[in-house]
Formats: sequence, C-alpha cells, structure tokens
Amino acid sequence: MSTNYNDDKCCSMWKKILTTSFWVIYPIMGVCFLHVLWLMNDRMDNIMVNSNEIFEKPEPFKDIEGPLRGNVIKGVDIALLKTPSEEMIAKGAKLYASKCVTCHGSTGDNGTLPNARKFGKDPFKNGRELSNVFKTITTGIAAGGMPPFDTETAEDRIALAHHIRSYSKLSPKVTDEDIKKLDKEYSVTVDKGAPHQIPIAMSIEILVEESNVKSLNVSKLLDRLHIDDGKSAEFLKSVSNNLKNTLISFNNSKVWKTDYSSFVKFISVNIQSSGLQSKMLVMEKAKLDKLHKYLVELYK
Ligand code: HEC
Repeated sequence: MSTNYNDDKCCSMWKKILTTSFWVIYPIMGVCFLHVLWLMNDRMDNIMVNSNEIFEKPEPFKDIEGPLRGNVIKGVDIALLKTPSEEMIAKGAKLYASKCVTCHGSTGDNGTLPNARKFGKDPFKNGRELSNVFKTITTGIAAGGMPPFDTETAEDRIALAHHIRSYSKLSPKVTDEDIKKLDKEYSVTVDKGAPHQIPIAMSIEILVEESNVKSLNVSKLLDRLHIDDGKSAEFLKSVSNNLKNTLISFNNSKVWKTDYSSFVKFISVNIQSSGLQSKMLVMEKAKLDKLHKYLVELYK
C-alpha cells in the first residue's frame, strides 16, 4: 500500500514538473526557433552574395564584327633567323616574361618548378641550336612537364628561341645548315595564308537558311508523294519505314542521281539512316531501276 502511495506522489510530482515546463520551456524553445529562423533569413543574403563571388562570371565571348578577308601571315625573314633584330630580341624577352617565367624564373635559372631546365647551367636534352630550341618550344617535352607552345606564331617562337639561347655562352652560333634544317621541318620562312572568316552569328543564319530551304523542299516532295498513287510512288511508300527520312537522305546528296550503280551504292551505304527497308538490298534490278528513274524525275 505504502508503495502505491509513494507512486502516486511521484507521478503527481512529475506531472507538475511537466506541466510547468510546458509553459516555461516550450515558449523559450519557440522564441529560440524564431530567432534562428530570423538569423538564417538574415544570412541568406550573404550566402547568395558569396556564392556569386565564388563563381566568377566568365568573360563574354567576343565574335568578330563582320566578314574578314583572309590575309597572309608573312614568313620569318632569313636574316632574322641568323641575327635577330633589336625588335625581335625585345619581343622574345616580353614573351618570355609572360609565358615562361613562372616555371623557368626571371633569370632563366631561378624557376619555381624544381625540374624546369636552368638555361644558364643545365645541359639541354634536345640541344641548344636554334632549330632544336624552336622544336622544344613548339612540341614541348610531355614526359618532363614542359608544355608545347605551337599556337604562337613562328616569328614569336623564333623570338623566344633566340631569347632562351641568350642565357648561355654555350649556345652555338646559328649556321646555314641549322636554318635549313629548321625551315625544312617547319617552313618558317614561307608565307602562310589565313582563311576568310565570318562572324558566328552570320554563319548560323546561313546554315539555318540552307536547312530551311532543304526542309521546304522535302515537305513539298512529301505532299507530292502522298497524292501520287502511281506504281513507283506506291512502291517507294511500301519500302520505306520513314518516308520523310528517305526523302531527306535523297535530298542531301546528288551522287545517287548519276547512274544506276551509284544509286544502288547510295542505298546500301545509307540503308539505316534513310529509313529504307533492308529488303531493298536484294531487290530485283528492274524494280530498282524504275525507282531510280522515278526519283531522278522527282528531284529535278
Ligand atoms: C609549366 C612549366 C613550364 C613552362 C610554363 C615552360 N616550361 Fe620550359 N620546361 C619545363 C620543364 C619541366 C622542362 C624540363 C623538361 C625535361 O627535363 O624533360 C623545361 C625545359 C625547357 C627547355 C629545355 C629543353 C631541353 O632541350 O632540355 C627549354 C628550351 C624550354 N623549357 C623553354 C621554354 C619556353 C621558351 C617557355 C615559354 C614559352 C617555357 N619553356 C615554358 C617547364 C616549363
């Protein structure tokens, strides 16, 4: 009995604690919760701003303004290969400072990359001749971590090669043989043509226009075929799983028009993409011949 009494007392005490805490703890928790919400809302702006800063916007792509006529990139003057002009020496130093200095250092011997060649002290794997240094700059040394610079113009690479050679007295004089070797391999003295260019937007316009004309043509043909109930038209409809694709593939090429054998060859090469059934490959010659003539007429 006495235990029961104690139990009752204990229970009512817990009940009391719980009820009081309901009115004390829950409001406090509620206030904390609201406070956290308010803080989060406040920080949200910062988070958004920061993430904008982290993901830097890339520079917008600049298209050329209008059509450009192709021009000629002049080959390098032979005299400059042998003895570089002051202009060329200055150019070499400038290019070196922007493209090579991080690995090879400002003096050519104090690069940050430990295994990058020290031009004044280290022996060269590929040799110090102008042609060899030019080759190293052009192709790089993939295994050793030296990147290729083949997108620089030949003149810029020559300027760089002269600059690298100037770091050491060990660099041999430029000989006629060496120039010949360099020119034979890389045609550095030959003028090179740069092609005509048009802006991307303009080229897209032209492509869209071309494809519009083509699809117009195909839809016209499709209409014609639908109302044509001649033998050849019916035959074509019966051997194609996708008439539109069939018409498009014949529309995109002219080779099949030439003669019967080009027609058969065209069909066998394009059997998948043209939507034609594979039984076309074993069709009698007379039927194919008729179809060929019909299509030539259709695509006139
Ligand atoms: C990313 C670092 C890096 C950059 C940038 C770099 N190089 Fe190097 N370069 C190297 C390393 C590494 C080697 C040594 C490769 C090896 O031992 O195989 C090297 C070697 C060379 C050699 C010696 C090749 C030989 O025959 O031993 C030449 C010459 C050279 N670099 C020129 C240049 C020039 C010119 C530029 C700038 C246009 C340049 N490098 C930019 C890392 C670099």
